[in-house]
Amino acid sequence: MCGIFGCILRTGEAASTIHEGLKKLEYRGYDSVGIATIQGRQLFLKKDRGKIDEVHEIHNLDALPGQLGIGHTRWATHGAAYQENAHPHTDCKNQVAVVHNGIIENFVELKAELEELGHTFRSKTDTEVIPHLIEEKLKEGLSLVEAVRETVKRLDGSYAIAVISVKEPDKLVCARKESPLVLGVAEDSLYIASDIPAFLPKTNKSAIIQDGEIAVLSDEGYEIRKTLDWKLVTREPEVIDWAPEMAEKQGYPHFMLKEIHEQPLRLRNTLRLQDQYLELMTTFLDRAGEVFLVACGTSYHACLAASYMFSKVALLATHPVVASEFVEQHGKSVNIDSTLLVVSQSGETADTLAAVESARLRAATVLGLTNIVGSTLTRVARVYISQQSGPEIGVAATKTFTSQLSVLSQLALRLAKKRGKISHVEIENLEEKLEQIPEIVESVILSQEEKVKRLAKKYRGKPCFFFLGRGISSAVALEGRLKLMEIAYLPSLAYPAGESKHGPISLVESGFPVVFVCPKDGTHKTVIGNIMEMKARGASIIVVVEKGDEEIKSLADDYLEVETGLPEVLSPIPFVVPLQLFAYYMAIERECDPDKPRNLAKSVTVK
Ligand code: M6R
Repeated sequence: MCGIFGCILRTGEAASTIHEGLKKLEYRGYDSVGIATIQGRQLFLKKDRGKIDEVHEIHNLDALPGQLGIGHTRWATHGAAYQENAHPHTDCKNQVAVVHNGIIENFVELKAELEELGHTFRSKTDTEVIPHLIEEKLKEGLSLVEAVRETVKRLDGSYAIAVISVKEPDKLVCARKESPLVLGVAEDSLYIASDIPAFLPKTNKSAIIQDGEIAVLSDEGYEIRKTLDWKLVTREPEVIDWAPEMAEKQGYPHFMLKEIHEQPLRLRNTLRLQDQYLELMTTFLDRAGEVFLVACGTSYHACLAASYMFSKVALLATHPVVASEFVEQHGKSVNIDSTLLVVSQSGETADTLAAVESARLRAATVLGLTNIVGSTLTRVARVYISQQSGPEIGVAATKTFTSQLSVLSQLALRLAKKRGKISHVEIENLEEKLEQIPEIVESVILSQEEKVKRLAKKYRGKPCFFFLGRGISSAVALEGRLKLMEIAYLPSLAYPAGESKHGPISLVESGFPVVFVCPKDGTHKTVIGNIMEMKARGASIIVVVEKGDEEIKSLADDYLEVETGLPEVLSPIPFVVPLQLFAYYMAIERECDPDKPRNLAKSVTVK
């Protein structure tokens, strides 16, 4: 996730306006920044690694001339946070500048093709193929707009791009596919940005550029066309009546709710991971003598779910370990044959890094899964995968959890293929369902949110909750409980459902709320038995079930539903979503601030 901003002004300098706009987009990424402007027939560009203020202090971003320009605040995906990887990227002759948000999946092939044609690349990014492709098309005599159109036709993946060129210094051309891009329209200026708040101080009139569209901005106004058939699109700007603070959250009252709603988009991104990293990591896992899955908090729950995925799909036994216990529990037995798959959203959690350090000292292999490229974990891991969730502002991990689950399931599937442990039919089914997960999550949010709100009202006064699930769903139960505890301050318990009768059941009395996570997998029948045990003691039963699971619904006081027909190892992704929403609305009912729970920090950097 990155932020892009561009503008054409009639009065004033573009650079300072872009700088201001990028500040409003900094929440989308902040590891490097850059601005390019055009004056006369000359391109001016400044970019560097670091937060906007840091880069501005060194380079004075405002000191670029011209009334037209583009800017970018980066969240590294391909290529670490170095100056040469910062946007804008340019062509060989510095005549075209491009900013991009998204992932170009086929950049390796495109880059090879362009290098063959004599293009020189300066960065390790996927984005840099875009200005070079445009350069090629301009060489053929196409106009800037035509060149952009022909270029985007060749791109696989997701993109929101803004392009300027000295060849047509009065135009700003943008295109969009699966990454956000909005147009801001004022009396004497036009803006393009990843998000409305970026230009809200300048104008409250906005039009959304849709997927598969190209917008051309110039002094004369703007024109939107369909990339494929070049049909003109008539779209009048709408008036936005959000307060600036609301706008940053895209109209949601809290970042947590925005991030829960963002999950379908983020999950789509995690399906576009670079093949070579997945393959490399799978090779290490395949060779490992023993595999530890190491993490804290929510990331640990992802590891726990992953241990079921690896075991069930790839027949690989792994050890999920809470990072703060790793050294005590396994520190002395770890050796050169051990591999740690370390999961950390921030890549900076002190307990997790301590486990990594101790394992490295014993020559173990460390693999990392993180959301922050450039974090300590990415520096110390032999191979790392960036989970592509974009910055998560809410302290409670939501979208980063489901992205982690998606990546881990892809690794399990790949390992299963490599080891020949899975039939073609199963592979196809899992791959097909993985592709459907973003839509499934979307429909869970759409169909269940109102119901969750009602449940939160009904159960708001309960002092304690149980969360139970069997098999892989026990990880979902733990995560549902952690969410409720950390943001609604409700003491709660979570257990594998079978374990509940070995002690915790003594707490249950009339009306005690017990939440069961019950996908229709191999545990279904046994879970019914566990529900009956709780019902017999007067518990209020809330279930998360597959649509049409009438058997379990008939036993429950309340139910939340998820689309049917998911393979067991993928079920945690949609099943956790109603529990995230439940925690959020319980926090609201109990007047707690879900974005800033007391005593917690987004990244826990102390042991
Ligand atoms: O950045 P990490 O994934 O290493 O963080 C680990 C935990 O601190 C984190 O998951 C924490 O439990 C979440 N805030 C829970 O929502």
